[in-house]
Amino acid sequence: MKNIAILHEELERPEKELEQYLLGRDGIIVKRFDIRATAFKDIMEFNPTIVLNRVYASVANRNWKMIKHSLQLIKKLEKKGILVLNSFNATKADYSKYRAYTLMKSASIRTPKTIRHTPYISLSNAVRRLGGYPIIVKRDSGGRGIGLAKCSSRTETEKAIGNILKSDDYKGDIVLQEFIEPIEPRDYRVCVVDNEVIYYHGRGLISLDTSEKPWIASRSLGSKILPVKKEVPKDLKDFAVRAARSVGAIFDVLDVIKTEEGYCVIEHNPTPSFVFKQDYQDVLGYDPITYVVDKILGIHEGSMDKESIADSGSVMGTN
Ligand SMILES: Nc1ncnc2c1ncn2[C@@H]1O[C@H](COP(=O)(O)OP(=O)(O)O)[C@@H](O)[C@H]1O
Ligand SMILES: [Mg+2]
Repeated sequence: MKNIAILHEELERPEKELEQYLLGRDGIIVKRFDIRATAFKDIMEFNPTIVLNRVYASVANRNWKMIKHSLQLIKKLEKKGILVLNSFNATKADYSKYRAYTLMKSASIRTPKTIRHTPYISLSNAVRRLGGYPIIVKRDSGGRGIGLAKCSSRTETEKAIGNILKSDDYKGDIVLQEFIEPIEPRDYRVCVVDNEVIYYHGRGLISLDTSEKPWIASRSLGSKILPVKKEVPKDLKDFAVRAARSVGAIFDVLDVIKTEEGYCVIEHNPTPSFVFKQDYQDVLGYDPITYVVDKILGIHEGSMDKESIADSGSVMGTN
């Protein structure tokens, strides 16, 4: 019997679908835990085989406290030897784009140069270090395109930073990034589970205003799912697996673009939002969610002596 705990904040469609799917499987007891009302002992009493952390990075946009609470809880659970997906270290990289950047840099994974914005840094210095305008301003923790801006001048940059600072709920950092232009009219969403690419697809690019060339791939902002070659190109597969490992993620959906220099990771999504949608079915020919969940359920068998999990600890350190 496997006890699967689903940790979440607001209950969204993916958690409901995940629960339904798991309930339909033999030998599984599934229980949801709302992070806003969950203490460590509540989860321990359930005696979980796996805790699936579904507190999205985007919760930072509206409930910063729960981001911190989730991290503390995951850390305690891991100390008790409980398998949490993703691990404390990978979740930290999920909740901080700057942290993900430093880990990728150490592992020589191509990704936009990133600087943490503080009131003490000189903006012109930062822009110079990023190779000049345009630059990207975004929340260090967050998602769904909120607070994302492409800036071509000091005025635009200050406005974008000001917009994030004005937000009532968000208490995290702000990052400035080099803008990387994709050479294809799409990005790639690449799903890695336990060192294997499970599926991938493209997403169309959109822009925030009509004067700019499309550059954003975001489902929340309206990008379409695009078909890609059935076989994942080997170089993309190897790159995505290495990139997921660099942040210690056993489960990761990566946003990757192709550049003149090769593939480049724009973002990791260790808590991706996934639901059954007809457009996935149409493009991929199957519903990817069941693949992912089945693969994840297989992980706990012998998990603690699995090389991938041991790896994730050593790559990330233990703090
Ligand atoms: N530095 C960048 N260079 C080029 N495109 C970017 C950059 N940062 C973000 N984007 C585009 O914006 C999208 C959303 O940014 P992302 O960092 O993934 O934020 P979110 O967490 O909101 O999804 C990316 O998928 C990508 O298409
Ligand atoms: Mg993204």
